[in-house]
Amino acid sequence: MPDSNDKMDKIISLAKRRGFVFPGSEIYGGLANSWDYGPLGHMLKQNIKAAWWKFFVQERADMVPLDTAIIMNPKVWEASGHLQNFSDELVECKKCHHRFRSDHLLEAASAKPGYDKENPKTISEVKCPDCEGPLTDPKAFNLMFKTFLGVNEDTSTTAYLRPETAAGMFVNFKNILNVTRRRLPFGLAQIGKNFRNEITPGNFIFRTREFEIGEFEYFINPKDWEKVFEMWLGEIKRWWQDVMQVNMDNLVWHEIPDGERAHYSKRTVDIEYKFPFGVKELHGIAYRTDFDLSRHETVSGQDLHYTDQETNEKFIPHVIEPTFGIDRMLLVLLLESYHEEEAPTSTEGETEARIVMKFPKHLAPVQVAVLPLSKKEELSSVAKDLAADLRKDFAVEYDETQSIGKRYRRQDEIGTPYCVTLDFDSLEDKKVTVRDRDTMVQERINITDLKNYLKEKFGR
Ligand code: GAP
Repeated sequence: MPDSNDKMDKIISLAKRRGFVFPGSEIYGGLANSWDYGPLGHMLKQNIKAAWWKFFVQERADMVPLDTAIIMNPKVWEASGHLQNFSDELVECKKCHHRFRSDHLLEAASAKPGYDKENPKTISEVKCPDCEGPLTDPKAFNLMFKTFLGVNEDTSTTAYLRPETAAGMFVNFKNILNVTRRRLPFGLAQIGKNFRNEITPGNFIFRTREFEIGEFEYFINPKDWEKVFEMWLGEIKRWWQDVMQVNMDNLVWHEIPDGERAHYSKRTVDIEYKFPFGVKELHGIAYRTDFDLSRHETVSGQDLHYTDQETNEKFIPHVIEPTFGIDRMLLVLLLESYHEEEAPTSTEGETEARIVMKFPKHLAPVQVAVLPLSKKEELSSVAKDLAADLRKDFAVEYDETQSIGKRYRRQDEIGTPYCVTLDFDSLEDKKVTVRDRDTMVQERINITDLKNYLKEKFGR
């Protein structure tokens, strides 16, 4: 396996070469830290989102789906605290004028050998990491993207692109109670785009200015919070183990201590991942008490209380919020799946290097490749018909160009779990060869049995 320093470079290069992720606006010289998902990246992201939705929403009786607006009444951000507090501390180098987040500089300083943890540095003691120049005093920089509604660009028309999807769920809490007549506990879930004017985006798709979040607000009676928090921690573990199938040793469950949590949170766990560029937050879960609904009640003037039908108790529901960055999960899948290994060639006893993306099979962007051994019409027409039939149930790629060895290498690099090859014998015996991506074992299967064979392999 590559060492961690060059693993990111290899992933970024493969992502571009094979069409997972392209640098954004590339023909115009790009736009720093913006990325476009190519055909395979789009399919992979769709599969992650669909699996997330199935696991956390569709398969549960206590979840309600939602899809709310990106641009909301600015009062929403006053109530949520984003207008006042959603900022990072920015410092600028007085010499080279590069800008940094002060918390990132302090974190980097504390990781240096010989750092005295008993006497932590303040930002005034840190120098510019690029040119050693002196830094300005830190100042708060709000991360929300501002825009204007309508034709006048003045403060009365100022609006913001949402920095998180959560607010859309809180402001609809009353609507949902009215239309669904739900009883606690229940959750509201959505997946959507979010925008943050990050001071220092970077590390490929890890930190960008537009990204997707899948999150839910799980409304509870406060007396149940500890038990519900544990339940969701367990479900999150199941998600990473069973659905995303990551090496659990690469996850770090970081209990945020008292004094470091947001003032309204009674418990927060950051789920971190051992990225090649350090152990960083992958996603999180927080017990947000009744902070959000109380704030929206105060600012909107609407009654957001809930009445327990059995006890007649009237209270503002509390919330447990698991939140997942979709792009970070995709990055984790790319990192976990990337393998370099020696594979046997068609010559007895010889091997060659292969790169193979061992995605969990149910998440692979292409599930089956149909590869006729010859472009001759009599074979390709049968292969095309087979591919068309398989497309009704699987994501299929048809490829008849280049040698079969090269086609296998390409399918390995894009992580296709099964390659189906047709040869001239297939026309006689009505059988195809199915090659398994991971074991490279080949099996001869009757065409009439192929769909069921593949369905079984995908656990359907
Ligand atoms: N409603 C809670 C909330 O938004 P957050 O920790 O600020 O929490 C949720 O964001 C998740 O979104 C993070 O855990 C991370 O996975 C992802 N995320 C945050 N900022 C991001 C960025 N700039 N680029 C990519 N993903 C990001």
